Amino acid sequence: MSLVVPLRKQVERMRWYQPPPEGRAGRLRLDFNENTAGPAPAVLRALARLKPERISFYPEYLAAESKLAHFFGVRPEQLTVANGIDDALRLIADGFAEADKPLLLVEPTFTMYRFYADLLGARVITLRYDDRLCFPLDNVLRVLRRERPRLFFLANPNNPTGDLLAPRTIRRILEAGQRTMVVVDEAYYEFSGVTVAPWIRRYPNLIVTRTFSKAAGLAGLRLGCLISNAEVIAALRRLRAPFSVNAAALAAGLAVAASPGTMRRYVREVTAARGELERALTRLGVPVYPSAANFLLADFGERGPSLLARLQRRGILLRDRKSDFGRPGWVRITIGTRAQTRLLIRELERLWTPARS
Ligand SMILES: Cc1ncc(COP(=O)(O)O)c(C=O)c1O
Repeated sequence: MSLVVPLRKQVERMRWYQPPPEGRAGRLRLDFNENTAGPAPAVLRALARLKPERISFYPEYLAAESKLAHFFGVRPEQLTVANGIDDALRLIADGFAEADKPLLLVEPTFTMYRFYADLLGARVITLRYDDRLCFPLDNVLRVLRRERPRLFFLANPNNPTGDLLAPRTIRRILEAGQRTMVVVDEAYYEFSGVTVAPWIRRYPNLIVTRTFSKAAGLAGLRLGCLISNAEVIAALRRLRAPFSVNAAALAAGLAVAASPGTMRRYVREVTAARGELERALTRLGVPVYPSAANFLLADFGERGPSLLARLQRRGILLRDRKSDFGRPGWVRITIGTRAQTRLLIRELERLWTPARS
């Protein structure tokens, strides 16, 4: 059946985001960088204690935002909540991107940046990591100075490469891009320990995003935060759908902020497990890239797709990143607990024979 009203031109031309396939429950989910151990007991208690009234009336944000701002070390007027970073990115794109105006991306990176850029018909300037997965800093600085893109979406650490830019590099980017809104997406901050959030006081062109989906384990509830100067935050609040973050997500996020111990222990567990997997892959002769996040990017080459299929049959899900590199074999592996990682390592040792040189 044809559409009675045609889709917008930009929408028709778009590449669609591939969400995770359904039916992942009960498997070892090492494919979408989620927390694999579940949220803190304090989160479950906060959800169980939600008063019926809280569920029946529309959510209120200011008191919660003030506590979250305290948790993130900024002032209440410098933070607002969103329905995950995905929603935060949409607000930013709605506010600052424009049809036919430049927007900068360094690919491969988080797919939703291009999704929103395309949705708005922005003119995307795409730079790429080189063959050794080095960030093209000089070209980025040149484009920022010459083209003055409206927006630059930058994940730090980046997904799927896992690399982390040093704060001094981000400073150079912010200084070269004084006419650009530089969005530093710190979805994996808890794992990297590196943030530029305090710099919102110094750089009016900086927006930082944070999420409770990864280390805190609230991906199913959807809670993200935008951090920037008060003027930017006031504008983004006006753009947000009035009740896009629900009461359960707020209660859960506040429970994490009040008792972050479980999350911090999980981060230490993942960091130890990441080291074990990196060493195991190297032993098996699989090229793997250093990562500051809760995942590793590995290159299994031609035999990658069949390995993935065999692991899947054994209930272990990894993410094929062929679409990022134009050839099969690139795989992103989410790091879970040490026990989960050792299970994966045992399966890899059973299924994978190193190529003969
Ligand atoms: C860099 C990056 N930003 C944002 C997100 C999405 O976060 P959220 O669940 O808060 O929408 C992801 C998820 O994979 C990500 O890798």
